[in-house]
Amino acid sequence: MSPRDKSASRDVEQAAIIAAKPDVTPAQNTKKVFIKTYGCQMNVYDSERMADVLSPIGYAPVDAPDDADLVILNTCHIREKAAEKVYSELGRIRQHKEKNKPNMKVAVAGCVAQAEGAEIQRRAPVVDMVLGPQTYHKLPEMIAKVHRNTGDVLETEFDTIEKFDQLPKTRNVKGFSAFLTVQEGCDKFCTFCVVPYTRGAEVSRPVQQIVDEARDLARQGVREITLIGQNVNAYMAEGPDGSDWGLGQLIRHVALIGGIDRIRFTTSHPRDMDDDLIRVIGTEPKLMPYLHLPIQAGSNKILRAMNRDHTYAEYKALIAKIRAARPEIALSGDFIVGFPGETELDFEETMKCVEEIGYASSFSFKYSVRPGTPGASMLRQVDEDVKQDRLVRLQELLYAQQEAHNKSLIGKTLSVLVEGTGRKGGQLFGRSPYLTGTHFDGPEELVGQIVDVKIEEAGRNSLVGVLAV
Ligand code: SAH
Ligand code: SF4
Ligand code: F3S
Repeated sequence: MSPRDKSASRDVEQAAIIAAKPDVTPAQNTKKVFIKTYGCQMNVYDSERMADVLSPIGYAPVDAPDDADLVILNTCHIREKAAEKVYSELGRIRQHKEKNKPNMKVAVAGCVAQAEGAEIQRRAPVVDMVLGPQTYHKLPEMIAKVHRNTGDVLETEFDTIEKFDQLPKTRNVKGFSAFLTVQEGCDKFCTFCVVPYTRGAEVSRPVQQIVDEARDLARQGVREITLIGQNVNAYMAEGPDGSDWGLGQLIRHVALIGGIDRIRFTTSHPRDMDDDLIRVIGTEPKLMPYLHLPIQAGSNKILRAMNRDHTYAEYKALIAKIRAARPEIALSGDFIVGFPGETELDFEETMKCVEEIGYASSFSFKYSVRPGTPGASMLRQVDEDVKQDRLVRLQELLYAQQEAHNKSLIGKTLSVLVEGTGRKGGQLFGRSPYLTGTHFDGPEELVGQIVDVKIEEAGRNSLVGVLAV
């Protein structure tokens, strides 16, 4: 645990910052926008930024589409199911619009917008605007066009630098933990994945821009920042000294910001895990001991076919190095079962990988064929029932490891960032350094603070403890 987390004086300072938090909803907002977010953390960040862009033109965010003037679906294209969800939601929105709110405008943003473009308006004429992930700064312009009724609006240009330069400098944040995009896009072209096509090439934001945004978050009472990117550890951009800085240097710099007491980063690719970043993992107390480092599959043959560009042995050696630098680190990973050509023997190598590495949490998926990716035209696609069987076996192992990790925390005292009150009266809810949801009794004044909690019970998904004094 970081000694900083124990500092009572810091908590008092922090309480003062929270008390001074400005009212984030400007009174002049008369229109309502409902933004529904699908997919990854980057979409969560983007949805918040769209709300920031819309606020100066009079839109206040609402939690339901019922009386919204504008509905934005921020979509995900990663698997077929995710993409199809959008069309069923659009069907519901069309009905609602026809019955109750004929003037409502509908926008589709995110990765489905980028991937399918004008096809969306053909399939769902209720949609007024289609906007790709690099165009959110242009929202006011697009809304004006829709209201002038100059036809459907479609924006799918890639200009990541322009987007970040033009997004509002201040953000309206609600909680105490926030995402901050430092890198966007992907040049890796894993053969199963749509992201390089939907998010474009890898682009990193300059250090100063990120530090300014992090300071703004700290001013608003944020205590934990998760630096995000599709390949966050490929981060490389100009530092204040004019030279190129990697993610390790960026983390050291963000760690200097007062009020920010916890730092995380996600998602990393094993190929971009350099020695400087590993040094920072080993030495920076504000960096939480939790690392999401996907391998996808354990078989070298499948890793090659996926174009992951590393072997299982290389991944294992990398994990050993990271664990030597920070022995208490908990690992999380992503896994795909049933990639084309995956035999039972290949799958068993994924099981062996999980047994050998040991994961505190994980995300596991059946391979989903994505149009336009190399995997879609590969021979020897795996049957759905085989994929299902393998997923069940893999998840049984992964979930057992997750539960065992949580149980290993019983009796330990963990620092918990209190995010809010629990469902039961007098109960608080927060996150452990390992991101595990943690429940304990305590006064509401502790919301927004980092407190020590002694863990007494552990399930697969959460921990229960008592305030340590
Ligand atoms: N950039 C990250 C992952 C982004 S997508 C990385 O490289 O790790 C998040 C996860 O979705 C991936 O790690 C992968 O496990 C899963 N995924 C991506 N495409 C998929 C597909 N076609 N079918 C099933 N799962 C997929
Ligand atoms: Fe997709 Fe691979 Fe890029 Fe991750 S590294 S976003 S899985 S192509
Ligand atoms: Fe989905 Fe796009 Fe994220 S496809 S996972 S929303 S980058």
